[in-house]
Amino acid sequence: MLSILIDAPTGDFEMEVIIQESPDSAARVAASIIARLIREKPTAVLGLATGGTMEPVYRELVRLHRNEGLDFSRAATFNLDEYIGLSVEHPSSYHAFMQEHFFRYVNVAPDRIHIPNGNAADVPRACREYEDRIRALGGIDLQLLGIGRDGHIGFNEPSSSLASRTRIKTLTQETLLDNARFFGEAESVPRHVVTMGIGTIMDSGQCVLLAFGASKAEAVAGTVEGPVSASLPASVLQFHENVQVIIDRPASGKLERTEYYDWVYEGKPDWQRYE
Ligand code: GLP
Repeated sequence: MLSILIDAPTGDFEMEVIIQESPDSAARVAASIIARLIREKPTAVLGLATGGTMEPVYRELVRLHRNEGLDFSRAATFNLDEYIGLSVEHPSSYHAFMQEHFFRYVNVAPDRIHIPNGNAADVPRACREYEDRIRALGGIDLQLLGIGRDGHIGFNEPSSSLASRTRIKTLTQETLLDNARFFGEAESVPRHVVTMGIGTIMDSGQCVLLAFGASKAEAVAGTVEGPVSASLPASVLQFHENVQVIIDRPASGKLERTEYYDWVYEGKPDWQRYE
């Protein structure tokens, strides 16, 4: 087959599907995208996510901070979501998750770390202030995303408005059960959460979504190749101009065009690849 590789940008950025052989190599790709941004723009505003999928990403960012001097001191962060009614010290809160996996090891200034407040006296007002603070810092440059088996991003469950902003949501029973592993049992998972909205996520300059394992394959296929629908919230990313979907082979299992995605990625000049 004739194939000419030129050392020029391929232009295939809009929804870039990057299939890796393991979660660790996928996490390295995501971390190197973030590292590149921080080096180019030290004051970058990062949108951060929680969940098991993110653990290897934070491990790699911590390694880059320690071994390669990746400097977060001028960056700011906004987390996607938090449970309502859990104290920030509760080991299953997303505040605790972020301390445990990332913030305690790196040098993000504490006053530039933002996580939704699920304990505010007036939660809707705290949600509006969260949006204001994102805007005041110039908007999110890069938003990290995991995905639920039902296609949720952040905690925007199916049927969420595709224009939604930071607000209170009720979790589905499926998500409650999925997240019970962080709590011990489903009964203790709070039913209500605060989450950035889909509109908030779509306003960010770049979205990097990760998914690992066969249990995410259907949601990934719907996100990339399905119709855009509030029934699968992540599918709205098809309307975003700069999205990387970084997945392992099992999570790619239900995609129809994997050969094409591999072909596009392999055809990129070295400087445009992320490893
Ligand atoms: C939670 C989080 C999501 C995350 C999802 C997947 O619902 N709010 O942001 O994407 O879990 O989690 P995991 O990576 O553990 O599969």
